[in-house]
Amino acid sequence: MSDFFATLDGTLDEVWQRLARGVADRDAPARHPVLATVGATGGEARIVILRSADRAAGRLTVHTDLASEKVAELRSNPAATLLVWEASVRFQIRLRVRAEVAKGDAALWEAVPEASRAVYGGVPMPGESLADPAAFEPFPTRDRFGVIDCTVREIETLHLGTPHRRARFRDGTAGWVAP
Ligand SMILES: Cc1cc2nc3c(=O)[nH]c(=O)nc-3n(C[C@H](O)[C@H](O)[C@H](O)COP(=O)(O)O)c2cc1C
Repeated sequence: MSDFFATLDGTLDEVWQRLARGVADRDAPARHPVLATVGATGGEARIVILRSADRAAGRLTVHTDLASEKVAELRSNPAATLLVWEASVRFQIRLRVRAEVAKGDAALWEAVPEASRAVYGGVPMPGESLADPAAFEPFPTRDRFGVIDCTVREIETLHLGTPHRRARFRDGTAGWVAP
């Protein structure tokens, strides 16, 4: 692990290992990537929870409220980026993805803990004005439970060291890039 950044293969292995750890371990940095999208007035970014990472399929998933603004943004422009900073190894992971949003199936909804369902549903709709934060009424419903399915198009990494090493992986090819 210590010199993973010295080779392109080692770098790519580290990316997927870190993503898998993010899914399994709530304290791992990759648990909470930033999801960046193209909004109506410019770039938008927010933290999400990484729910799955499948290296063989090149897919990552995130759960969300289907009424949230990110869903409208992704439906208008599916190009998005997930960003992870692994501070302990000084390693940035940038995942350029194509995102498709769908309603979560019944089995997935059943697996969401009761206490966590409250974030999928409620009035008023996400982003609407509230006179008082306590006035929001959660109303968990599978109708608002969405899965953002991200197909990874390109991975770019940056390892801060001597020298800095930036690498790009796309369509089965890998190469170093000027940092
Ligand atoms: C630690 C943390 C985890 C979060 N996880 C998610 C998540 O998995 N899915 C989600 O839609 N929003 C999640 N959020 C909330 C988003 O960051 C964001 O505030 C919300 O989804 C509204 O974003 P939007 O208006 O851009 O759609 C999380 C926020 C924090 C601070």
